[in-house]
Amino acid sequence: MEDTLTEVILGRLEEFPLTERTWDSDKLGKIRPGAPEIKKEFPLGHRFRYAEVGVFSGAHAVGLLGYFPSQNDAWFVDAWIAPTEADQPKWNWLYNLASKRIYQFPDAKIIRAASSAAAQIVPNELDFVYLDASHDYEEVLADIEAWFPKIKSGGWMWGDDWPHSGVEQAVTEFTREYALSINRGIAQWWFQKP
Ligand SMILES: C[S@@+](CC[C@H](N)C(=O)[O-])C[C@H]1O[C@@H](n2cnc3c(N)ncnc32)[C@H](O)[C@@H]1O
Repeated sequence: MEDTLTEVILGRLEEFPLTERTWDSDKLGKIRPGAPEIKKEFPLGHRFRYAEVGVFSGAHAVGLLGYFPSQNDAWFVDAWIAPTEADQPKWNWLYNLASKRIYQFPDAKIIRAASSAAAQIVPNELDFVYLDASHDYEEVLADIEAWFPKIKSGGWMWGDDWPHSGVEQAVTEFTREYALSINRGIAQWWFQKP
């Protein structure tokens, strides 16, 4: 199965003559701004357990791996399912590119699966989860509900795309229900697990 998938992806690479260097190069390896509390609490040099949910090309994953080194426990989750069947080869190519980027870091692991299924596989006691998958209200809420229990007490749920109304609504509702304070940058949001 693995071999077949790899073969299909490699066989189609020439259809997408984007190089690793040009694709998402503006973002490659840069960690998102914001979340100063997380960066302060988790100083450089410490080793972390964390997950990024929603990886796409792996540009931000590489930023996280550079900033937050892990010891065998950095998980990168994405289904890489295209919105239309016709687009699927391109998404397979993105998966291939993300894998190349992420597997430069020996402690990283990729799970190609739906977010909720992956949450069943990843171990508990994560330092943080970076959520950057769907923008749809119900899906974001389901993602937060699936991943919040994976985080250790004192750890962080951190995500992107606050300006999307579905993200804002889901994060606001969840934090209100558990009486948690939301921290916000322009697009970033983060809250701590008590
Ligand atoms: C905005 S992109 C992620 C960008 C990436 N974090 C970055 O900054 O480079 C969103 C990704 O989430 C994935 N995604 C969306 N919903 C998902 C779900 N329910 N399960 C798994 N992956 C999902 C999509 O396949 C897509 O690659």
